[in-house]
Amino acid sequence: MKKIIAANWKMHKTYEEAISYVKEIKGKNIDFEKKDVLIYPPFLYLCEVSRLLEDSNIKVGAQNVYFEKKGAFTGEISPVMIKSCKADYVLIGHSERRHIFKESDELIRKKVISSLEEGLRVMLCVGETLEERESQLTFNVIESQIKLALAGLEDYADKLEIAYEPVWAIGTGKSANPEDASRVHAFIKDTLKELFKKDANVRVLYGGSVNSQNAKDFLSAPNIDGLLVGGASLEPNTFLEIINAF
Ligand code: PGA
Repeated sequence: MKKIIAANWKMHKTYEEAISYVKEIKGKNIDFEKKDVLIYPPFLYLCEVSRLLEDSNIKVGAQNVYFEKKGAFTGEISPVMIKSCKADYVLIGHSERRHIFKESDELIRKKVISSLEEGLRVMLCVGETLEERESQLTFNVIESQIKLALAGLEDYADKLEIAYEPVWAIGTGKSANPEDASRVHAFIKDTLKELFKKDANVRVLYGGSVNSQNAKDFLSAPNIDGLLVGGASLEPNTFLEIINAF
C-alpha cells in the first residue's frame, strides 16, 4: 500500500508564513511514487495553498467541515466550498474537535456522509483517551467510533482513510510505541472488514507526537500506512525529514 504523510497545521501560521512554507516545500525532492503527501492548512488559506500546489503532487485538505451544503450557518464551511477550492481531502473527528468542541459521533457521521457525497476523500480520526486506555477500553472505543461513523458506507471505502490518534499522545511528546500502534491498526482493519463485509484496503495512519526521530519506526511497523503529523509538520524541513524517513 502506498504510504501517506499528512501535515495538520491546526490553528498555526499567518498568511505569509503559510505561503512561504508552501513555496519552500514545493521545490523539495520527494518520491511521490512511494508516498502521498498532504497538507491540512487552516480554512482561511485553503484556496491559496491549493492554488500554489496545483502543479505539484502535494495534496491539500481541510481540517474540518460542516455537513450542510449551504445555508444560514454563520461561521461554518461546507464540503461544496472545500471542493470549490480544489482541495481533495477533509479531516473529520479529530480529537480536538471531539473533546474541545464536543463533537458527537452523530455529528461526525453526518460530516462524513456529506463530504463523501460531495466527492471529497475523508480522513476519519479515532483514538482513546488515557482514562479509556487505562481501563482497557481502547478497542471498544475505536470500534464504536468507526462503526458509528462509517456503518453502511462500504461503497465509499476507496475514498476513506483512518487516522489512529491516541488522545494522550497528541501534542504531548509522548508517542505510542510502534508495536502497540500496529496492534490497534490491525484491529481497525479487522473492524472495517467486518463492517464493510469485504477487504476495504483503507489506509490507516498513526498520529500523536510523530517526529523526525520516530517516523521511520512507525512507517516500518506492520499495518501503519502513514502518519498524521501536527507539531513536527510546522517547519517545512522537519516535515520533509519525516516524509523522507523511509
Ligand atoms: P501532534 O498532533 O503531532 O502535535 O501530536 C497530531 C495531530 O493532532 O494530528
